[in-house]
Amino acid sequence: MNLRIPGPTPCPEEVLQATGRQMINHRGPEFAGILRRVTDGLNWVFGSSTDVLTFTTSGTGGLEAAIVNTLSPGDHVLAVSIGSFGDRIRSIATTYGARATSYAVEWGEAADPKEIGRLLDADPTIKAVLVTHNETSTGVTNPLEAIAREVRARDRLIIVDAVSSLSSVPCPVERWDLDVVVSGSQKGWMAPPGLAFVYMSERAWAANAEAKMPRFYFDAGKTRESLEKLQTPWTPAISIFYSMDTAFEMMRAEGLEGVYTRHEAIAGYTRDRVKSLGLKLVPVDEKFASNTVTAVWWPEGIDAKALGKRAREEFGVVLGGGQGKLDGKIFRVGHLGWVSKDDVVAALDVVERLLSEAKATA
Ligand SMILES: Cc1ncc(COP(=O)(O)O)c(C=O)c1O
Repeated sequence: MNLRIPGPTPCPEEVLQATGRQMINHRGPEFAGILRRVTDGLNWVFGSSTDVLTFTTSGTGGLEAAIVNTLSPGDHVLAVSIGSFGDRIRSIATTYGARATSYAVEWGEAADPKEIGRLLDADPTIKAVLVTHNETSTGVTNPLEAIAREVRARDRLIIVDAVSSLSSVPCPVERWDLDVVVSGSQKGWMAPPGLAFVYMSERAWAANAEAKMPRFYFDAGKTRESLEKLQTPWTPAISIFYSMDTAFEMMRAEGLEGVYTRHEAIAGYTRDRVKSLGLKLVPVDEKFASNTVTAVWWPEGIDAKALGKRAREEFGVVLGGGQGKLDGKIFRVGHLGWVSKDDVVAALDVVERLLSEAKATA
């Protein structure tokens, strides 16, 4: 199968073999070694000089951890949304009692950093900005560095969903002065789902000391205390730690620059090929098009579900569909993690063939 959804992504053979290893004592020295190596790997990719925390959960759990560990019920947040994942982090915050002001842009567009600055100036009660780095539902990457500069200049917290960007595109958390940043193992990290990673800045830890939202499993303080003893507070997904340990060996061999350049080149090829087929990209301004997932409008009159089904059943190509209001209107090609140009060429050859057949029978 050519799995071209934007996560879970295919795992390299070495990672699959590591994932299948026998269980070990999660309070013993062998796991301690793995936890140290995986945390070092995370610190390296996040660009963090303090330890990134790992939770056994999916990306959404990581986002929940980010919210409940830094905010209190009644806190005012600016929820920046450019698609369905921007809406999700807002929902998590309001579920736990935050008061949210929304800055939502048309799906396909990126957020405007200056507008975020203006909204923060207009309301000094806003404590934190919630923002998605890479909006997987529309294939748009926000100008996060510029957004962070606006937030920083006004001394608010910036909480970032980097689930589908980190490890595939640069997101240096300290250099960009971000506060809380979340990613998940099944995206660019070349591992199966099951672990979420959460970076917290010093400012975020200071907020944590005051934060009153309820939390137990996702308590960052407990997780940090355990990490100091090279343990996790609860039984971790040991198998996914094995996967991450091996995935980091591969990432270190390729080098971070190598990983980023590969993603950039494959994404560039994907966009050019899609346009050469006469199809339109969902991102309105290609400058903000994602290097991890390309979202494309189906031509008018196409039976998207039938085409996706044929791609999967007859050609073994699994494309991502549209989410929410984009359901049936777009397809998405994931090109993150363990991906080569050949994988995308093969997927788009199938799209081309199916589209020309559909046109011929129309
Ligand atoms: C940007 C973004 N945020 C959050 C999530 C949610 O992660 P999970 O499905 O692992 O809970 C995803 C997963 O697709 C994502 O792409």
